[in-house]
Amino acid sequence: MKRIAVFTSGGDAPGMNACIRAVVRAGHYYGLEVYGIIRGYEGMINGDIMEMDDRSVSNIIQKGGTILKSARSENFRTEEGRKKAYNNLRKYNIDGLVAIGGNGTFTGALKFYEEYGVPCVGCPGTIDNDLYGTDFTIGYDTAVNTCLAAIDRIRDTADAHERAFFIEVMGRDTGYIAIRSAIGGGAEMAIMPEKKNSIKEIIEKFKFGVSNSKSSHIVIVAEGEKPGRANEIAEQVKKEVPELDIKVTILGHVQRGGAPTAADRVLASRLGLGAVEGLLKGKTNVMVGVVNRTLVYTDFKDTITKKKLINNELPRLIEILNGRKYKNEDRLSILK
Ligand code: F6P
Repeated sequence: MKRIAVFTSGGDAPGMNACIRAVVRAGHYYGLEVYGIIRGYEGMINGDIMEMDDRSVSNIIQKGGTILKSARSENFRTEEGRKKAYNNLRKYNIDGLVAIGGNGTFTGALKFYEEYGVPCVGCPGTIDNDLYGTDFTIGYDTAVNTCLAAIDRIRDTADAHERAFFIEVMGRDTGYIAIRSAIGGGAEMAIMPEKKNSIKEIIEKFKFGVSNSKSSHIVIVAEGEKPGRANEIAEQVKKEVPELDIKVTILGHVQRGGAPTAADRVLASRLGLGAVEGLLKGKTNVMVGVVNRTLVYTDFKDTITKKKLINNELPRLIEILNGRKYKNEDRLSILK
């Protein structure tokens, strides 16, 4: 292997730049030539490929976004698009790829390998933390910290006006951002796809709070498959608990930007080096991740199909720390 190329694809995530930097510098350390592909698969199809030297990645470790740009490429889903992409890689004699992205990115890389045999190692880059094969994805920690900064501010005004706030966070069909933000932000509840909370349960929670003289409430809602659903839930609660002054805040894309946290910079750097070393060891169609502090490689097939489950302890933590009235039998069964 003499030349590799790195690209970012799908939703950008803070720490992607730190990962690009690690790939470029690790590649040079091992005597490889390293290329950058602009706009992910779209750039591969259009031939937007450039050589990267060590200086091209100076002063980016602290920056959000991705200097290589990102895109969700529809063209790469077509045979014609992938053929063009392959021809461009041949033109530059690229013989290995590092793909920084999520499930869609790895699905594309797998298909591409099956058709053209270009080896690829993936780095998990998404704020959603929804990838099997790594405890954390690049960008997740930063996104959660961004949510926390917003929740802290909303808490001030919620307390001042004695209001209830539904704060919607991203995460596509998972509740990873929601659960961690809810615990860190001291929220009363995290509503997320994995938990299937009924509206009845949500309303009861509020009624219980009101009957216990609780004056302000914070509930975190994962966007789920339908962004904006915090509004719907708020409407229903308003009808049943009219004495509450309810507001909704949708955090949106603010969660995707900003300087990566230390945890994301370190993770991204480790994974970038791991990806290059993986390619050099002959690995392909695997994602490099960190599980229990150890670097591991997981087949794209597993990453794509297996679901990483949210630790059951976390929802329970919110319930206990937020004054839910436990029945005696509940407590006894837990302490057994
Ligand atoms: O996958 C990252 C993510 O931010 C999701 O949490 C969100 O549902 C989606 O991307 C939004 O995508 P877009 O930026 O294309 O609207």
